[in-house]
Amino acid sequence: MNTDIRSIIAGMTLEEKAALCTGASAWTSTPVERLGVPEMIVSDGPHGIRRVPDVHAMTPQSLPATCYPTASCSASTWDLALMGQLGAAIAEEAIALNVDVVLGPGVNMKRSPLGGRNFEYFSEDPFLTGELAVNFINGVQAKGVGTSLKHYAANNQEFQRFSIDAQVDERTLREIYLPAFEKAVKEAQPWTVMCSYNKLNGVFASEHHALLTEILKDEWGFEGLVVSDWGAVRDRVAALRGGLDWEMPGPQDRRVRTVIDAVRSGELAEATLDESVRRILRIVFKAKETPKGGAFDVDAHHELARQVAAEGIVLLKNDPLPQGGPLLPLAGHERIAVIGRSAQAAHFQGGGSSHINPTRVDVPIEALRSRAPTSEFIYAEGYPPDDSFRQDLIDKAAQVAQSADVALLYIALPTYIESEGYDRTDLDLTAQQVALIRAVSSVQPRTVVVLNNGAPVAMNAWIDAVPAVVEGWMMGQAGGSALADILFGHANPCGKLAETFPLKLADTPAYLNWPGGAGKVQYGEGLFIGYRYYDAKQMPVLFPFGHGLSYTTFEYSHPRVSATHFRDVDGLTVTVDITNTGHVAGKDIVQVYVHDRASGLVRPEKELKGFAKVSLQPGETKSVTIELDSRAFAYYHPEYGRWITEDGEFDILIAASATDIRHTLTVTLKSTVKLPCILDKESTIREWMADPRGRDVFGPFYAQMEEQNRKIFGGSGDESPIGMDMMGMMGDMPLVSVLMWQQDALPMHPEDLVDGLLAEVHGQAH
Ligand code: BGC
Repeated sequence: MNTDIRSIIAGMTLEEKAALCTGASAWTSTPVERLGVPEMIVSDGPHGIRRVPDVHAMTPQSLPATCYPTASCSASTWDLALMGQLGAAIAEEAIALNVDVVLGPGVNMKRSPLGGRNFEYFSEDPFLTGELAVNFINGVQAKGVGTSLKHYAANNQEFQRFSIDAQVDERTLREIYLPAFEKAVKEAQPWTVMCSYNKLNGVFASEHHALLTEILKDEWGFEGLVVSDWGAVRDRVAALRGGLDWEMPGPQDRRVRTVIDAVRSGELAEATLDESVRRILRIVFKAKETPKGGAFDVDAHHELARQVAAEGIVLLKNDPLPQGGPLLPLAGHERIAVIGRSAQAAHFQGGGSSHINPTRVDVPIEALRSRAPTSEFIYAEGYPPDDSFRQDLIDKAAQVAQSADVALLYIALPTYIESEGYDRTDLDLTAQQVALIRAVSSVQPRTVVVLNNGAPVAMNAWIDAVPAVVEGWMMGQAGGSALADILFGHANPCGKLAETFPLKLADTPAYLNWPGGAGKVQYGEGLFIGYRYYDAKQMPVLFPFGHGLSYTTFEYSHPRVSATHFRDVDGLTVTVDITNTGHVAGKDIVQVYVHDRASGLVRPEKELKGFAKVSLQPGETKSVTIELDSRAFAYYHPEYGRWITEDGEFDILIAASATDIRHTLTVTLKSTVKLPCILDKESTIREWMADPRGRDVFGPFYAQMEEQNRKIFGGSGDESPIGMDMMGMMGDMPLVSVLMWQQDALPMHPEDLVDGLLAEVHGQAH
């Protein structure tokens, strides 16, 4: 096989090149048999393989594959090694099912808990998302199977997802919506990146030159190909110019024609087309280096799905009962009421393109039975499959609960509520489910609620009446067993939330800007999504980011840093000792947040910059070390157009969750960033004084100005004849405007004076 890409391109006709840049079918690339260019097969993604039997047709049914927990669950593991294993297992299934590229992971931020695809995404935090994605991608690609990092970018809702124009300021993009993509590209080089459907600041993502070419390819060094989300291309020529290499799905004869015509007419440079052809050929040939076929180990993969679920399930609440310890783990109960349809019909994945045809499914109630063979289990359906109201089911369930020693309430939203293609409209369980929980918990104080959902639900209406709540997520095909293990203490819960559970919808960051209208959605909350918002507003939440309980307890001691004074480029090492102070083995997830004490631009109160998961036997202590690099202290400055650090003090918060800070250490950073002076004619006096070069040349004038003002208007603190602090007001005026008022006292015209000062600060003669 000739895989010399340059010679292949040289031998291709314009028609062949244009055709290659569009798929041949829903799941395949266009082969060029004449030149030995094979077909490449892609399949969804992200938490398993959705491979249709005939890749040249668009059919809903797919071949059996392991349905692993969806991303909200796998993210709650915070377990990077496990993400790698998950990736590797998915790659093995891809190989067995003859798939070259898996369409995932999805790394969009959870801007609102209403986002229809939140179950497919990891977190509200870009750092955590990036770390998980890197490990997942490396896991897949180490096996010679490609990934598709999606959906790039600012695709954070389903409402009008094909057309909505996300209005996001540059700093918010760089600090919140892009970093997970950036980290994944720089540290894992996904073979493909999938552009999103939406527009970003007025331009379709599929045509966005800044996004696809300048940032992704040029700045981050992305070497793979950019594929469109399925049907995201509107103007094929504009898309090629923007940097979109491969349009999917195909065939698209008319589009191919347009490309040919555009090259012939000179509207599209052939070199631009060649660059996309080069990128596509590179990945097609890379894909073919991995022989496909064979079988995957169905049992072992089912077991891995169970393990991921067990690590991702979060024990949200486990209060002590009035008569003693907490209800969980269950022990010694003879009659156990199991209530709720989802105990029989496991709800373990969401709707849409990620939907897997599982190899098998663990039935939650059967898993319970197998773990407590001497207990008696009594089942009641509790609620119907839809959102209709059935009092008879509630009455029956309450009766069953009352007759038992303990009630396990399995509550799953109707299966169609969380899906690709539309958002949720509220955070509520169905009215039936709320009434059911209230009815059961009022007759049975030992009630555990086990939730299956892909995103937060509101719990105010019932949580106080329930001593224990387990977040079981969309837990994948083996989740029923994982839940049973957790409930009976065969596994100690160790998952922690990768997203905040708010008290109510109206509290959520994007509430006033969701989901937009008239074709646009304003990201008005800016940097403040997730815990960054609740921190800034000092708002209580139901369960904070990073929260998760265990059957044991952990103590954090002896916190230390590698240096109290350090240069940004050297980074910092944070170490803390963690002790398991309880009676069972367990795992804890230590989180390190950074708080900037003072900065030029407003910053979130704290940001996650490191974490570690540690496994401890009872009584055992381990030292945990977390590295913080320069980026951990930096923020993106839109005027400089780059990440910057500033000299000053930072607090390092060592925490068990975003609201459970165990230790705070203060360090001092010395910035090595050499910034150009950005003072200009509009710069305010305060900006002149904040800039070191500005202060040098303007400082003496400032002192005179202050003196003058004090004489006329009184200084700050004095009682001024006009009731104001004159320098306070002037601080926010452009220098030239202030000087205009004092023209008479100046030796030259204020504009000339400012021009001269500007020349001086910019290092020019004047
Ligand atoms: C989804 C993608 C998916 C693609 C192929 C699109 O509608 O947005 O996530 O990979 O379809 O199924």
